[in-house]
Amino acid sequence: MFGLRSRLPVSDEERQWVDRAFARLSALLGESRMLEAEVILPIPKHFPDPYDATEDTVGRLFLRICEYMGVDRGRIDLEVFPDSTTHLREILPFWQAKSTGCAGLYTRTSDHSRMVVAVSILGNPAALDRIRAFCDAHDLIMFEDNCESLGASLNGRLCGTFGDINTFSTFYSHHISTMEGGLLVTNDVEIDHLARAIRNHGWARDVPADSIVNQGQQHDDPFFEAYRFVVPGYNVRPLELAGVVGIEQLKKLDGMLRVRRRNAAHFVELFRGDDRFVIQRENGESSWFSFTIILNPESTLDRARVMDAMRNGGIEFRMITGGCFPNHAAVKFFDYDIVGNLNHAKLAHERGFFVGNHPRDITAELDLLRSVLDGV
Ligand SMILES: Cc1ncc(COP(=O)(O)O)c(C=O)c1O
Repeated sequence: MFGLRSRLPVSDEERQWVDRAFARLSALLGESRMLEAEVILPIPKHFPDPYDATEDTVGRLFLRICEYMGVDRGRIDLEVFPDSTTHLREILPFWQAKSTGCAGLYTRTSDHSRMVVAVSILGNPAALDRIRAFCDAHDLIMFEDNCESLGASLNGRLCGTFGDINTFSTFYSHHISTMEGGLLVTNDVEIDHLARAIRNHGWARDVPADSIVNQGQQHDDPFFEAYRFVVPGYNVRPLELAGVVGIEQLKKLDGMLRVRRRNAAHFVELFRGDDRFVIQRENGESSWFSFTIILNPESTLDRARVMDAMRNGGIEFRMITGGCFPNHAAVKFFDYDIVGNLNHAKLAHERGFFVGNHPRDITAELDLLRSVLDGV
C-alpha cells in the first residue's frame, strides 16, 4: 500500500540480525527455498508422531526435522540426554575426567571431507595417535597445528610429526622466538613443493624441474622460469637474522622445556585436588606453554571477580586460545558446519583463562597466583 513495506515487529538491531541470517541462509539454501518452502511449525500437522521422551521418539522427531530441512541424516550425530540430566557434570564427559586434553569428536561428516586439523593446545598433546589412525582409515589428510606445543610428545613421538603437514610458530609468544616466523614440516614431496611455491608468490622457482607441481610446463628459458606461476600464493620469507636466532634457541630448547616442566609440577601441586579449579590434565608429555584454569561451573566463583583480583595483583592472563571461535563476529565470513554442541569450548570461553609459563623458575609468581585466587 503506497509503497509501504511490511516490517518485522522487533527492534532495529534484532531486525538487522534477522536480515543478516536470512541473507546467509539464502546464500546457502537458495532464495527460492527461503521464500517458497512451507513454514514448518510445532503443530500436529507437521509433527504427528506421538512423543514420550524416549530415545525412539526423539530419533523419529530428529529424522522428521532432517527431512524438512533437506539435511542428510548421515552427516549428523545425535546425542540424547534424558531430561533429568541437566548437570554439566553428567553432560560433559570432560568434566568427569577433569579435562581429557582432547575433544574426542572425530566424526566424518560428509564425503566432501578432505582434511582434519589437529591442534595441541597450550603445550598439551591432542589425541594425535587416534586422529592419525582415523585419517588413515578414512583417507583424509591430517594437518597438525603444533604452534603451541613445540617439544611436547605423545607415546614417545614428538608432536608436530603426526600430520602430513605439521606447523610450528616461532612468533614472539611461543616456546622459542625468532621475533616473526614459523615452519612447516612434511615428509610428502608434493606438499613440500606446493608449500615452497605458495610462500613464494605462487612461482615454481624453488622446486626441481621434475616436480609434480610443474605439470610438465617448465621452460628451458630462464626468462620464463623466473616468473612462472603455478598456484595462488603470497610472500613469506623468513629473514636470515630470524634463522640465526632460531638455530641458537633450538640448542637451548631441551633446557627450557625442563624448566617449564618444573614450573608445571609446582602449578599442578598448587591446584591439584581443589574442586573450584579445573586444570589441564596432561596427555602424553606436555611442553607446558602456559597454565589453564577453568572455574568450576558448580562453584560460586565469578570469573569477573577473579580477573579483577588478578589485575589488582599484577597477574596477566588471557582467554584460552581465543575462546570458542563461533562466539566471535568473524565467523559470519565463513561457510561452516558445527558438529556436536561445543560445550567444552563454551565452557573454556565463559569460565576459563590461562596464565603464562616461562623458561625460568616462576615458583614465586605461581605462589602469588595461588594466594590471589585464595583471596577471591
Ligand atoms: C594453535 C595456533 N595456530 C597458529 C598460530 C599462528 O602462529 P603465527 O602467529 O606464527 O602465525 C598460533 C599463534 O599463536 C596458534 O596458537
